[in-house]
Amino acid sequence: MTYVIAQPCVDVKDKACIEECPVDCIYEGERSLYIHPDECVDCGACEPVCPVEAIYYEDDVPEQWSAFTAANAEFFDAVGSPGGAGAHGPVAGDHPLVAALPAPS
Ligand code: F3S
Ligand code: F3S
Repeated sequence: MTYVIAQPCVDVKDKACIEECPVDCIYEGERSLYIHPDECVDCGACEPVCPVEAIYYEDDVPEQWSAFTAANAEFFDAVGSPGGAGAHGPVAGDHPLVAALPAPS
């Protein structure tokens, strides 16, 4: 199981979550951040600090954002498992689900 970043993060990217993650498994894309499902240790530290409530335990992702569970995982098809977001740095681009969302006005 893993934690998931859902739609409220898109174009907000507060990044308070990054400071809390003990294993540095929250990676930055262009419009959103993504939690690596294999690197996340399910500690729950990130979830309460997000000011827009974008982070959910996998079983608790609201229905309207259910596709974000797969999106977080699929984002890493191209990235692999670097073992640390800080050392890896930001990733150019986003999962297609995020990239297709309307730009903020
Ligand atoms: Fe996004 Fe919330 Fe983290 S807005 S960057 S999930 S603190
Ligand atoms: Fe990291 Fe724990 Fe969240 S491992 S992604 S702070 S659940």
